[in-house]
Amino acid sequence: MTKATIDDIDISGKRVLLRVDFNVPLRHGRVGDDRRISEALPTVNALRERGARTIIVTHIGRPGGRVDASLSVQPIADRLGELLGVDVPVARDVVGPSAQALVDALADGDVAMLENVRFEAGEERNDPALAQRLASFADVVVNDAFGTAHRAHASTEGVAHLLPAVAGYLMARELEVLGGVLGDPRRPLVAVLGGAKISTKLGVLTNLLNRVDSLHVGGAMACTFFRAKGAATGRSLVEEDKVQMARDILDVPGATAQLRLPFDVVVAAEATDGAGTEVVSWDAIPDDLMVVDVGPQTVAAIAADFRDAGTVIWNGPLGIYEVDAFARGTRAVAKALGESDAFSVVGGGDLGAAVDDSGVADSIDFISTGGGATLEFLEGCTLPGVAALRDRETVAK
Ligand code: 3PG
Repeated sequence: MTKATIDDIDISGKRVLLRVDFNVPLRHGRVGDDRRISEALPTVNALRERGARTIIVTHIGRPGGRVDASLSVQPIADRLGELLGVDVPVARDVVGPSAQALVDALADGDVAMLENVRFEAGEERNDPALAQRLASFADVVVNDAFGTAHRAHASTEGVAHLLPAVAGYLMARELEVLGGVLGDPRRPLVAVLGGAKISTKLGVLTNLLNRVDSLHVGGAMACTFFRAKGAATGRSLVEEDKVQMARDILDVPGATAQLRLPFDVVVAAEATDGAGTEVVSWDAIPDDLMVVDVGPQTVAAIAADFRDAGTVIWNGPLGIYEVDAFARGTRAVAKALGESDAFSVVGGGDLGAAVDDSGVADSIDFISTGGGATLEFLEGCTLPGVAALRDRETVAK
């Protein structure tokens, strides 16, 4: 990790624009899963302890540049306040008079929050005027929003070119852990990739295939590989236009040595709880049924690989996770990961919640807070929100 962090600059008494990714699920006006908030607490607390005046910026949802009261940050500020044990006041706008007044009233060690930055049309356009206005509130930018680092927006990228910009602790840890998986992992390195669509995972799959000792594929995307191998897949979700690509991957010399497809799968007539299921071999999927989960032999093979692994990276559920009965494969693999001695990294989005549901989150070494950002990082892409941060050697304390 070559990026400077809040430990590399003097922030005492400074006005700090802290970009976080508190894009969390809201249910009935309250925060559902607060992992993204709790994971940013070390940064917020360090800023408070050092006497910074912290102005928190986040987006939530996709309001498309318009004010949408249902996407106000108020419930998030309430939850953050509960976790910090202090009141976190919220501006009624993003960069208007209310925001200005809130910033002006901050004392050393205070924390306040701007309204949802995506209420401003300039945010997603990376409008220089919006970036300039945000920059006018602060002396320093701290970016702890790894989950949004793949977006070149005014509050993630634009503003970071206008002020000294460094990483928060969560951002630094994400870069260190995920960078370590790609760069210098303890071996054997085992990857597990799931999810419905091969198209969203193709970049990760090809980048990881070059680096891992084994790569297990689950979820509906395995069906596209089954088709590429000439098997029938019944009513399973298959991306027809990606079958040739799957064939090309299977044809890469040496690829089949690392690539592990499910041996057995759970099939059902419908993706609903209560639908009858059976376990069949990957090449014997009945015409009228669809794949809904990985089978027990496949789970056992993945678990066996975990026992010898030095590092495991896992992204994407292995079955139709939203349906309780078809979450068994994912949960069993999560349990096996929790029991393994490997350095375990779970990447992003739904899978973090799946691991929580399995009750093994505490045994996992790192659960990434990114969804799309984690995928893009693992694909080997440069994330604009990261690229805009200062390198450690260029900042003087
Ligand atoms: C996420 O949840 O992945 C990030 O907050 C980014 O959100 P977006 O996909 O709406 O840009």
